[in-house]
Amino acid sequence: MTSRMTRKTAEDTLHKTVCRVEGVSKEGGECVLLTLDAPEIAKLAVPGQFVMVKCTDGACPLLRRPISIASAREDKIFLLVQPVGTGTRWLCERKAGDSIDVIGPLGNGFTLPGAGENILVSGGLGAPPLLFLARILADMGKQAVSLLGAGSSSRLVLKNEMAAVCKDVFISTEDGSEGTKGLVTDLVSKLAPKSTANIFACGPLPMLARVAEIAEKASSCQVSLEAKMACGYGACMGCAVPAANGGYLHVCTQGPVFPSKLVMWRNPL
Ligand code: FES
Repeated sequence: MTSRMTRKTAEDTLHKTVCRVEGVSKEGGECVLLTLDAPEIAKLAVPGQFVMVKCTDGACPLLRRPISIASAREDKIFLLVQPVGTGTRWLCERKAGDSIDVIGPLGNGFTLPGAGENILVSGGLGAPPLLFLARILADMGKQAVSLLGAGSSSRLVLKNEMAAVCKDVFISTEDGSEGTKGLVTDLVSKLAPKSTANIFACGPLPMLARVAEIAEKASSCQVSLEAKMACGYGACMGCAVPAANGGYLHVCTQGPVFPSKLVMWRNPL
């Protein structure tokens, strides 16, 4: 008689669920906001965390993409997806009633602030985790100011959702088609964050580097890093970024949120 052993992979130990798509709405930059029925993930998720979504209905298990959780309410989670490749295009074509295979919530979240003003800085597709944070802060009775930047008005995302929960929303676009012409980091400079300010930022790396520089005197600055992720749970080491102390930070397991002082922003060579 032969016995067959099944090998447990790291992925098998994670919280994997098949979620029903409850709603689909269009956002700027050809993005799509998906509402998923995901009670287990919604119950556990905190702002800053992400999920790995299988972007195919075929058998290939490697086609997962990391997507930030843009909010979790009751039994639902919200994901903003931009169609940039085969997998994300497939995801953007889902309809209400379809099923999606999701692992999560993964990574850490933002450390919630104490006293002081809260400034949320997002560039491009950095808005989703900050919207989740803004909603939690509003639930706690804390106010936040949102600075939203994009290339142009048509590429702004989650503007109305931010306005619904933030004290103020300031917009910048690179072409001047909405708000102040320029970069979102110009808005941060203009705001001149006080030493009591708590800054939270998500967006492209050069933007985060500039925010970290401006925020040096602020009370705290937390950044949510974007990185290429093959697994999302520490198995591939593909998401490592240089740390300020000379080592590496693994964005999927130690992040994606880090105090800005832990990150090496400039290549020392
Ligand atoms: Fe695989 Fe981080 S994405 S280790």
